[in-house]
Amino acid sequence: MTVDAIVSDIELPSNGAPESQHSLAAGSTTHNSFSLTGKTIAITGGGRGLGITLALAVVEAGGNVACLDILSEPSAYEWTSLLALAKKTGRSVTYHRCDVTDETSIETVMDAVARDATARQAPFWGTIACAGIQQQVPALDYPAADFDRILRVNVTGVFNTAKYAARVLRREGRPGSIVLISSMSGNVANRGLSCSAYNSSKAAVQQMCRSVAQEWGQYGIRVNTLSPGVSFPSVCLMAPALTSQYIRTAMTDQLLQENPDVERTWMAGALLGRLGAPEDFKAPAVFLLSEGAAFVHGSDLRVDGGHCASA
Ligand SMILES: NC(=O)c1ccc[n+]([C@@H]2O[C@H](COP(=O)([O-])OP(=O)(O)OC[C@H]3O[C@@H](n4cnc5c(N)ncnc54)[C@H](O)[C@@H]3O)[C@@H](O)[C@H]2O)c1
Repeated sequence: MTVDAIVSDIELPSNGAPESQHSLAAGSTTHNSFSLTGKTIAITGGGRGLGITLALAVVEAGGNVACLDILSEPSAYEWTSLLALAKKTGRSVTYHRCDVTDETSIETVMDAVARDATARQAPFWGTIACAGIQQQVPALDYPAADFDRILRVNVTGVFNTAKYAARVLRREGRPGSIVLISSMSGNVANRGLSCSAYNSSKAAVQQMCRSVAQEWGQYGIRVNTLSPGVSFPSVCLMAPALTSQYIRTAMTDQLLQENPDVERTWMAGALLGRLGAPEDFKAPAVFLLSEGAAFVHGSDLRVDGGHCASA
């Protein structure tokens, strides 16, 4: 069979297929293809750390954001900055208390966010599943209950988030994008850290991505993982006045307190001579969400300053 014959045998999507099953519309500029204007994104773990930084990225890209977190209130400074940007640019930012391990809670919040988004004429477009927890225990001593707790939040919680976001998109008959936050620890075991449950959970998220990508691509729902390297210490760009000061995400702060020498070990693998900062993940997350990534599906985007590239 000739190549031409093979090509003519390929079944093209019908006209009724969701938009993102087609390539980007002709005439769309590269710049526009990264815009999230007219879209609403739910971000779990959006109460602080990486999640709230990615919320800022979505708003900067023109989108509206719903931050979901188990915290009763988001981090005050970052939230104030986010609200100020949203007000200045006419975007919507909302905060919802939600436990990602509780199906009823995540379903109720996702549905409410989608309803509000439709009313605001900026329909629900997808989610960033960023909520996660970390724990260090030597594997020989790891209590099964603790291991289960890590998997419950980092795996089942991420699955719940993706599932209820995908259900909204299916119900509304629209395409969308789901970004699951994994970690370079899903690919390698970090030297100096005893985090077998966390590392296992992050590897599971990568395989979850491939699994649901295989099921949901037909609906125009793209699913990808973003795997950050260590983001510590980080400069908080939301606070330009504070750029000379270093801040840490709560997760890495705890790790450092438990292992004061670990930063030196991490730096030894830092090919760019620095560790990551939460804002290093803003553009990669926006890319995966955007229509510019219309053909990026079931992939892992590792953003680790080259850490995993050398032993
Ligand atoms: N910081 C890093 O170096 C790094 C590196 C790789 C991957 N990550 C991943 O990035 C994500 C965010 O990490 P971070 O450093 O910002 O940590 P963080 O602890 O600052 O933020 C995690 C957020 O998740 C929320 N959360 C925890 N359990 C929840 C639940 N059951 N329901 C809803 N929300 C819940 C927390 O309240 C918190 O706001 C995590 O998935 C983490 O594994 C972080």
